[in-house]
Amino acid sequence: MEEFVSFSVADTEKFAETLAERLKNGGYLALFGGMGAGKTTFVRGLVKALCPECLELVHSPTFAIVNEYRGSSIDIFHFDLYRLTDEDDLYSTGFYDYGEQKSLIITEWSELFEDIIPENAIRLKIEHIGENGRRFTVC
Ligand SMILES: Nc1ncnc2c1ncn2[C@@H]1O[C@H](COP(=O)(O)OP(=O)(O)OP(=O)(O)O)[C@@H](O)[C@H]1O
Ligand SMILES: [Mg+2]
Repeated sequence: MEEFVSFSVADTEKFAETLAERLKNGGYLALFGGMGAGKTTFVRGLVKALCPECLELVHSPTFAIVNEYRGSSIDIFHFDLYRLTDEDDLYSTGFYDYGEQKSLIITEWSELFEDIIPENAIRLKIEHIGENGRRFTVC
């Protein structure tokens, strides 16, 4: 188990950039942590490292469900599962098609769909420590 404590948005982005090394060839990142935990902030740091040309597209996909960041070296599909009610909903988003390409899939609110997380996923839990503190645990 690996832990990192962040005290600011900048810390969180920097931590994401270090984790990017492990995801540069694609894979699955499952983010856990409630409202305002810092999931989208973390994704911004990751995209900064893996697909800087896509940086301005990064925002919470709460309404779109999935944001696509297609870069020169990797395609990133950033999901927010918060508004989905079941796997049929997820199927409609094309979730199961994205996995067939070499790409990085990220899900916010992974706790709502535990069953879909692949074995080889990197699971990252984010917890609040006061207002600006966040504990990241890779498991
Ligand atoms: N150390 C920190 N790391 C990340 N965000 C922080 C930190 N300290 C404060 N914040 C603030 O917390 C908020 C995190 O928002 P963000 O959109 O990343 O959360 P989220 O987990 O994606 O939430 P949601 O579930 O609503 O999508 C931002 O307003 C950010 O400024
Ligand atoms: Mg978010």
